[in-house]
Amino acid sequence: MKTWDNKSCPSKAQIRPELFATSNRFKKKTAKTFMCNPADLCLCVTEAFKQGIIDTNTKILAIEKGPKAGDTHPKYGWVMTTYDAKKEKVRIIKSIYTKLKALGFAEENITIWDRELVRLTANEMRRLGFGSIDYAYLDTCSCLTPDFIKWYQRHMNKVINFKSTIAFTFLISRDVRAWKNYKLKDNDPIYIFCNPLQNFKRDMKKLDDANQVAKLIMDNTKFKTTVTYGRTYKEPGISQPMMTFKLNFGWKQKNFSGSKKTLNLGYN
Ligand SMILES: C[S@@+](CC[C@H](N)C(=O)[O-])C[C@H]1O[C@@H](n2cnc3c(N)ncnc32)[C@H](O)[C@@H]1O
Repeated sequence: MKTWDNKSCPSKAQIRPELFATSNRFKKKTAKTFMCNPADLCLCVTEAFKQGIIDTNTKILAIEKGPKAGDTHPKYGWVMTTYDAKKEKVRIIKSIYTKLKALGFAEENITIWDRELVRLTANEMRRLGFGSIDYAYLDTCSCLTPDFIKWYQRHMNKVINFKSTIAFTFLISRDVRAWKNYKLKDNDPIYIFCNPLQNFKRDMKKLDDANQVAKLIMDNTKFKTTVTYGRTYKEPGISQPMMTFKLNFGWKQKNFSGSKKTLNLGYN
């Protein structure tokens, strides 16, 4: 558990403006609903707002389960007890409200699902006023697990339409790999999420992993999809390699505007 500020996460800082670039939008329309994992600083919402993806009439669905006992305290660095974790969750959720209100969002346009993302059913989303999601940035930074895929297939698929845009950040290195045996076929497109030049063997593996993750999500989306942005990266210090990518649906798609350059995959 930590804070995703620009100093600790320089790659994320570089990715947000690229991800929300309006030139890469399906249609030049402001999203009426925006689903996200903003964390305490809400930097993704701030960037989407700055770029006109959303405005203060947009209804924000913020997902935040909070840390758990055993996670590291973001400020003090100690291992959190259940009490610390609960207190930290309260702080994060309060901070989300404060930051969103400071951007100009009225209280009625802010909804916080303070539980695990995969517990959020399509019925619950409809009940909360999010039966149709125009834009989602599911920046969980966790592994693409079988549970996530099941949830995405059963619930997320019911709230998207062919004009939606969905972006994700997944961890692309861990033992639990839902995509492990999800091999690419010869005629599958290969997206250049990274430029595998620093360390050919390792970075080719990352490229392959990233393409498998994207394919697994695309194959479980009810629409024909195009990846319109994508990039692999690793933040400095002790952290895992990640990938961020964005999908658009339907026809008349923009071309892929992803990275030609891996961000700091140097394992420093
Ligand atoms: C990487 S941070 C988000 C950073 C933010 N999007 C930004 O651009 O600065 C991910 C946040 O989502 C929460 N989160 C991650 N996985 C989640 C899940 N499965 N359910 C609910 N919340 C989750 C984490 O607790 C964390 O606060």
